Amino acid sequence: MSLQIEPLTPVFGARISGFSIREGVDESVMAEIEQAFEKYSVLLFPDQPVDDDEQIAFSERLGPLESTLPGAVGAGSKVARIANIMPDGTLKDPNGHQALFTRANIFWHTDSSFKPVPAKASLLSARRIPKAGGDTEFASTRAAYESLPLELRAKLQGLIVIHDIAHSRAMLTPEALSPAQREAMPPVEQSLLRVNPINGRKSLLIGSHAARIKGWDETASEDLLAELMTVTTKPEHTYRHHWTVDDIIMWDNRAALHRGHEYDEINDRRLMIRTTLAGLGPTVVDGVAQAAL
Ligand code: OGA
Ligand code: MN
Repeated sequence: MSLQIEPLTPVFGARISGFSIREGVDESVMAEIEQAFEKYSVLLFPDQPVDDDEQIAFSERLGPLESTLPGAVGAGSKVARIANIMPDGTLKDPNGHQALFTRANIFWHTDSSFKPVPAKASLLSARRIPKAGGDTEFASTRAAYESLPLELRAKLQGLIVIHDIAHSRAMLTPEALSPAQREAMPPVEQSLLRVNPINGRKSLLIGSHAARIKGWDETASEDLLAELMTVTTKPEHTYRHHWTVDDIIMWDNRAALHRGHEYDEINDRRLMIRTTLAGLGPTVVDGVAQAAL
């Protein structure tokens, strides 16, 4: 049996049905999913109920996983809880560190770009959704790059961007990072351009963790990063998903940004579980951008 693949927008994203994680997925279907992933960047798998172990097992067939950030709930495990509730069901303190950390997902970002090896892909499953809000929106940095004028594309070649989790967290509060987290997650260098090793298509590695362009003065750096964000988040480069329980979305962190929309964190409950496929290597080696990973 072969999969049904229906595009979500004219430029990226596809809804994939015709398989069941719970009933077992054979190798040929896994290969079709991987092909679709490289092509569409964002894959929606509707109606795929999973528990954490099933999600981990399915994800691990696609590649090795990252473990959860220091300081997060369940740090060091293979699943990240994106939630306003703790594992025991109680509400997170809305002003506490844990809640702030999750709330920073409202800014456009790509997962783990503040780590020396940024994440390849993320799989997010909707376990509990709020009555209103809490959508997740995606933006294609590949479609954005391909829409840029050639002179601008040439100017981006070889640029290195400093990514820093303190930069994105400071958008919410200056004390978002504890001293231990600061030490565990120092700023890193990333290639601004990425090249998909399979199809050669280029994309931009930007988003809320992107603090500045290496070697540029502050204004020029801010202007370029802002310009690239504006192009990337144009409506024609985005897809906004309104969740249904048991949806899973898998996205390519190399080719898309995402952000979580707000919901009533005090009176409602939202629980999403994420597994994260590790990247293949650093995007800068010895000061030289390595785009093709
Ligand atoms: C994530 C993330 C946004 C959301 O899981 O990496 O940014 O809508 N999630 O929960
Ligand atoms: Mn994220």
